[in-house]
Order: sequence, then structure tokens, then C-alpha cells
Amino acid sequence: MADKKDVILSGIRPTGRLHYGNYFGAITHFLRLQEQDVNRFYFVADYHALTTIQERRDISAQTIHMLRTYIACGLDPNESIIYRQSDLPSTAELALLLGMITNIGHLERGTTYKDKLGQIQSDPKQTGNPLSYGLLGYPVLMAADILIVKADIVPVGDDQRQHVEMACDIATKFNSRFGETLHIPKPIARNALRLPGLDGSSKMGKSENNTLDLLDDEKTVLKKVKGVPTTTEPSPLGTDSNTPDDVIPLMPPGVGVLFRLLDLLAPAEVFQEFLQEYRDQGKFYGNLKKSVAQHVSEFNAPIIERFNDPALDDAHIQDILRTNAMKVSPIALDTVEACREAIGIGRSLYRA
Ligand code: TRP
Repeated sequence: MADKKDVILSGIRPTGRLHYGNYFGAITHFLRLQEQDVNRFYFVADYHALTTIQERRDISAQTIHMLRTYIACGLDPNESIIYRQSDLPSTAELALLLGMITNIGHLERGTTYKDKLGQIQSDPKQTGNPLSYGLLGYPVLMAADILIVKADIVPVGDDQRQHVEMACDIATKFNSRFGETLHIPKPIARNALRLPGLDGSSKMGKSENNTLDLLDDEKTVLKKVKGVPTTTEPSPLGTDSNTPDDVIPLMPPGVGVLFRLLDLLAPAEVFQEFLQEYRDQGKFYGNLKKSVAQHVSEFNAPIIERFNDPALDDAHIQDILRTNAMKVSPIALDTVEACREAIGIGRSLYRA
């Protein structure tokens, strides 16, 4: 049998604005995958987004905005199949079937659910979203996303690893109960970079309000970078190494973020010059911030320009989504129909 190309699948939550944490955690990885001989499937997880909304929000507009940013970053819609989760409603049907064989105990060990439960327990006024059936079932829906397109490789960040493992467990259980039906993905081996927030906290995140965004203009960038906390006196590094990964963790958090940005965006000499200044313990934070802001703005400029390209309008992006949904749909239906048959309800009597 001829070797089949691996199917790569990843899902992206439609969070709206994309930030540097998204870029260096996921988007760079997607761009690298564009050079490999694989079938790439990326979808916007708009059903999953519903676990955090309690009132109407224009998820459709957010989805389009986000895809426009991805394309502006270099994701080529001709090289990957980009679709919307809700355009494959058979995913919800598969999630329902998988839910029937998934133990609640298994789901209660899910990190997303556990974190939320912890938050609610420590928030007596219960101001956030309630614990919903949908949130508990988040990993089941995610399993359906993965299994429905028969994915081989699922690149995700560390926070999503457990969910991918749960998908494999659910598929294995399905197959052992009903016969070999679902294609089981390979285990993941990848450590994504976790970029710290501009406030020096461990993670850059939208809800933490500490992001540097890909569409930030020069003025915004300068303001944000100037605001990075650098009040701590430089502390001696206690190492002779000049390798970014060795020295950055030894710096005070805000300073570490600035050096990390230089490491990602500036030529190595620039990083080394500032590292020397750090070791000399001079007053250099003003210059460091200016340099970081300049490199960030230079990085953002072409992305902003492509984002504003009139050819990349809503209608064009909707067109991409529609065409791709039509391409993925037969694969998805094939999986769901096979599961229906394996379980014994039989194939749908109206679908072709
Ligand atoms: N849960 C993922 C996240 O929050 C998004 C996602 C949904 C996903 N379904 C997926 C990722 C399937 C990979 C495969 O980032």
C-alpha cells in the first residue's frame, strides 16, 4: 500500500486578538509544518468557545478576524485546510456517541474542568461562568474533533496535552467495545514555548491582560514595552553561559520578558550586547526597552499591512471556510457513519 500522508490537525479557539504568546506558541509551529509533506487541517473551535460565553457574542466575526490575522502571519489557505468546527455539525453527533462510553470520573480529572471547579470553589459569589455539562464534556468534543478527521498528529501546547491523551483513550475504548473503527493518533512529542506576560507573570494570556498583540501599532507597542516592570536591580546571573535559555530564567521576571523578546526578534549580537550591559549592571533598561519596542514594531508592520489588504475581506475568508468545510465534510461523515454502524444504530437513512 502506498504511504498515506500524515494528517495533522489542530484547533484554535476564536479568541479575537492574537498575541505574541499565540504566535510563538502555535503559529510559528504551523508555519514550519507548511514545509512538510503532510495534510494540514486547522479549524476554529467555535463550539468550544461557547463554554465561556453566557450571552450573545459575535463569534462569527471573531472567527473571521482571527483567521485574517493567521493568514496575515503567513498561514497559506492554499496549503492547509482551514475550516470552522461548527461547519462540521457531525462533530457534535460523534461527541454524543463518544459521550456514551466516557466515564464521568475520567472527565472530572480533566485539568480544564478541575481548574474551573477550583475557581468556583474559591469564588463564593460565583461571578464567573457556571460549571456546565459542556465544560465537563470539553474533552469529549475535542476527541470528536480529532477522531472525526482521522488525525495522525495533533500539535498542541502543554495545557492541551491531557485532552489529546483523553481522545486516544476514548478511541481505544470505542474500538475495543465495538471493533476497530476509529483511527488513533500518535502520541505527541513537542514542547511549545511558553512566553511570559508583559507584567512578568509566567504566561502571556488574553484574560491576564498582559499581552503584546500582533496588530499593535508602534505607539501601543512602545507604551506596553515601557510598562514592563524593571524596577528590580539586576541580580548577578551566577553563570558564565551566554545562551538565552540559560540566562533568561535567572533574570527578574520583567527583565526576562524583554530579553526573551530580543532573543526571538533581534539579531543575536543585539541580545549579547544587552546581556553584557546586564552583567555590567549599568543603567540600560531605557535603551533595552527602546530596542525591544523597535524590533516588535518592525515585526508587526508587515503583518498589519497584510491584515489590512483589501483582497483579504470577510467575503474572501468566508469563501475559504465554505470551500474547506465541503472538503472535510465527507471525511467526517464517513467516520460518523462507521461509528453508527459499529454501535448498531446503523447508517443514517437520509444521508447520501
Ligand atoms: N482546546 C484547544 C485549545 O483550547 C482547542 C481545540 C479544540 C483543539 N479541539 C481541538 C486542539 C482538537 C487540537 C485538537 O487550545
